[in-house]
Formats: sequence, C-alpha cells, structure tokens
Amino acid sequence: MEHDIQEVYFSAEQIDEIVKRLGKQISEDYKDKNLMMVSILKGSVIFMADLMRAITIPCQIDFMAVSSYGSGTESSGVVRILKDLDVNLEGLDLLLVEDILDSGKTLSHVREILRTRHPASIRICTLFDKPDRREAMDIHADYRGAFVPDAFVVGYGLDYDEKYRNLPYIGVLKPEIYEKKKKKKNDDSSSKE
Ligand code: IMP
Ligand code: MG
Repeated sequence: MEHDIQEVYFSAEQIDEIVKRLGKQISEDYKDKNLMMVSILKGSVIFMADLMRAITIPCQIDFMAVSSYGSGTESSGVVRILKDLDVNLEGLDLLLVEDILDSGKTLSHVREILRTRHPASIRICTLFDKPDRREAMDIHADYRGAFVPDAFVVGYGLDYDEKYRNLPYIGVLKPEIYEKKKKKKNDDSSSKE
C-alpha cells in the first residue's frame, strides 16, 4: 500500500496536531450548548473518532450514509440517503463532521435535509478543504483543519476505490494506480463486447 503513494501531504503527527486544535476550539465554542456531532460515512469515521476524543465537553454522535461518489474521483452530484440518523435533532447544536469539502454538493444537500428537522444550530467542521473545487457556493467550513491542493488525496479515512482508508497519513497516489484501474475498466468493457 505504501508503495502506491507518490507524496505525503500530512503526516500522522501533523494530523494529530490539527485534530487537537479543532477539538480545543469546538470544546470552547460549545461549552454551553447541546453538541451533536454528525458525520457522513465512510470517509469521516477516522476523523470523527479522533476529533470526539479531542473534545472535552459532553457530546452525542450519529452517522448518516449517503451516496455521492461512485468509485472514481469526481462527484456525481447525485445524493441519496442510504442510512438516516437515529436521533431527533430538535434543539440540538449540530456539527457536521466532514473528511474533505470538495464540490460541497453532498454537504449542501445533507444540510438542507437536516435543517427541516429544527436543530438549534448547524455548523460544519471539515478536516480538509479544497475551496477551488467548490460548486455549492453556500457551503463554508466553520472549522477547517487545513487546505489541500486540488488533487485527489487518500488515507486517514479517505479512499480511492474503497482502498487506502487505513493509511495513517494523507497522501497522493502515483498516477499509474489510476491508469491501472482505467485500463482494467477498458479491458472489462471490451471483453463484454
Ligand atoms: P463533494 O460533494 O464533492 O464535496 O464530495 C465530498 C466527498 O467526496 C468527501 O466526503 C469524500 O468522501 C469524497 N472526496 C472528495 N475529494 C476527495 C479526495 O481527494 N479523496 C478522497 N475522497 C474525496
Ligand atoms: Mg469517498
């Protein structure tokens, strides 16, 4: 797996520092509120698990599953709820925990759905942000770990074709990894003809 990585953008230590900083800030800001952290599966699970342990005030967590990405690297724009929240959101201060904000389409759609359930407030915490890629212009990170350049990154929960989520750092894949997959796709489709 390590051999597929071309460059490391954020080491495990750097991510740890970022997460602790965010946890501290959120703990201060939400100390008199009813913090409910909601994350969208699966990319955010590792960030969620680390962030909640960096938060020192009482909080609840819940998860949603939506489909927005296929197995490629571009957002399809199609968002469908596959698993909904279990908890009534009325009066809770929602913090949407995202792994990476790209086009923002997924989160924009999810936020609209959650708004109709009357939470007291909704904010967004993203570990990584690619602002140049934004298409949903109403989506801004209230808490941001770091900016990343416009490249497809993997690790720390983020996948390419469902793999590399278990890398403890964030990096970019070697171009040949994508080419291998493209070639396989072409071979598969021509063998069906
Ligand atoms: P958006 O709707 O375009 O903002 O898509 C956001 C989701 O796409 C993230 O929560 C990730 O699951 C996935 N995604 C976006 N950029 C990357 C990336 O660079 N690597 C891996 N997954 C990504
Ligand atoms: Mg993904």
